[in-house]
Amino acid sequence: RFPAEVSIVEVGPRDGLQNEELNIPTENKIEFVDKLSQSGLQRIEVTSFVSAKWVPQLADAKEVMKKISRNPNVRYSTLTPNLKGLNDALDSNTQEIAIFGAASETFTKKNINCTIEQSLKQFDQVVQQANANKLPIRGYVSCVVGCPYEGFIKPKIVGQVVEKMLSMGCYEVSLGDTIGVGNPNTVRDLLTELKRVVSGNMDLLAIHCHDTYGMALVNIVEALESGIRVVDSSTAGLGGCPYASKGGAAVSGNVATEDVLYLLNSLGVRTGVDMNTILAASDIITSVLNRKTNSKVGLALGCKK
Ligand code: HMG
Ligand code: MG
Repeated sequence: RFPAEVSIVEVGPRDGLQNEELNIPTENKIEFVDKLSQSGLQRIEVTSFVSAKWVPQLADAKEVMKKISRNPNVRYSTLTPNLKGLNDALDSNTQEIAIFGAASETFTKKNINCTIEQSLKQFDQVVQQANANKLPIRGYVSCVVGCPYEGFIKPKIVGQVVEKMLSMGCYEVSLGDTIGVGNPNTVRDLLTELKRVVSGNMDLLAIHCHDTYGMALVNIVEALESGIRVVDSSTAGLGGCPYASKGGAAVSGNVATEDVLYLLNSLGVRTGVDMNTILAASDIITSVLNRKTNSKVGLALGCKK
C-alpha cells in the first residue's frame, strides 16, 4: 500500500519563514538551515529571490545563501519568479530553482501580480535560462484544490498548468494545497486527473500541504496511495503564503516535517531523515520566534517550545 521510500523536501526556511512579521536575524536563519543540513534531508528550500517589497522577511536571501554551511549531500534550492530572481540565484550558487504559479487567476494576480498566461510566459524565460545553466527546475502550482478567492478549483485547470510546467522543462511539479482545504476525496480526484496528464509517471509530482484544518496528513496518505513519492513539509509546522490570506484571516502553516516523519517512520517508509535533528532545528527557530511548535509530534517528543 505504501512505498519503501519517500523523499522529504524541507521548505521551512522559505515557506516557513516568509510570512513571519518579526525580522528574524540572518544568523538565526543560517543556524536553522545548518541544523537541517545535518538531519539527512537531501533537499532544502532555503529562501526566495523575490521583491523585498512583496516579501520583506526574505530580503536577506543573498546573505543566507552565501553563509550557510553546505552539506554535499543536500541540494539547496530557491524560489525565482522572474529573470532578476534567477540571476540573483545563480550569483548565489543555488543548486535548484523553483518557479511558482497557480491554478487560480485571482491568486496569481495577488501573489505575483500577473495573469496565469503571463506567468507562464515569464516562467518560460526563466526555465530556458536555468536550463542553459544546467539548473534543475521545480514548478509549483498553488490552489490545487481550492483558492481563498475563487473557492473550489477544478482538477482539469490544475492539469493544464501542470502540463505546461512539465513541457517547459520542470523535472517535478509540486501541488500546493495552499490553504489546506483538500480532503482525501478531492486529492484523489485531482491525482486521478494528473495521472493522466503525466501518463502514469507520478515521479513527476510532489505534494505540498498546508494544515489549516488538520487535513494534511490524511491528504498525504491519500497522495502516497495514489503514487506520490515526494512530500514537502516545514519544520515546526511554520509557514504560509502572505498572499493567501483573505480579509486578514490567519495564514495556515505547512504540515510539520516532524509529523510527516513520524507518519512515515511508523509505516516503515524510509526517508533517511533523523527525527532528533529535526527537533533540534525546531528548537532553534521556535526559540527565535518565541513561539510553540505547531507540530503535535514535536510537542509529544518534548520540544523546548
Ligand atoms: P511587480 O511589482 O509586479 O514587479 O512584482 P515589478 O517588475 O514592477 O517590480 C517591482 C519591484 O520589485 C521593482 O523594484 C523590481 O526591481 C523588484 P523597484 O524598482 O520598485 O525598487 N523586483 C525584484 N526584486 C528582487 N528580486 C526579484 C524582483 N523582481 C522584481 N526577483 C513580483 C512582481 C513577482 C516581483 C512580486 O509579485 C513578487 O516578488 N512576488 C512574490 C510573492 C511570493 O514570494 N509569494 C510567496 C511564495 S508562493 C507560496 O508561498 C506558495 C507555495 O508555497 C505553494 C503553496 O503553498 O501553494 C510555493
Ligand atoms: Mg506553501
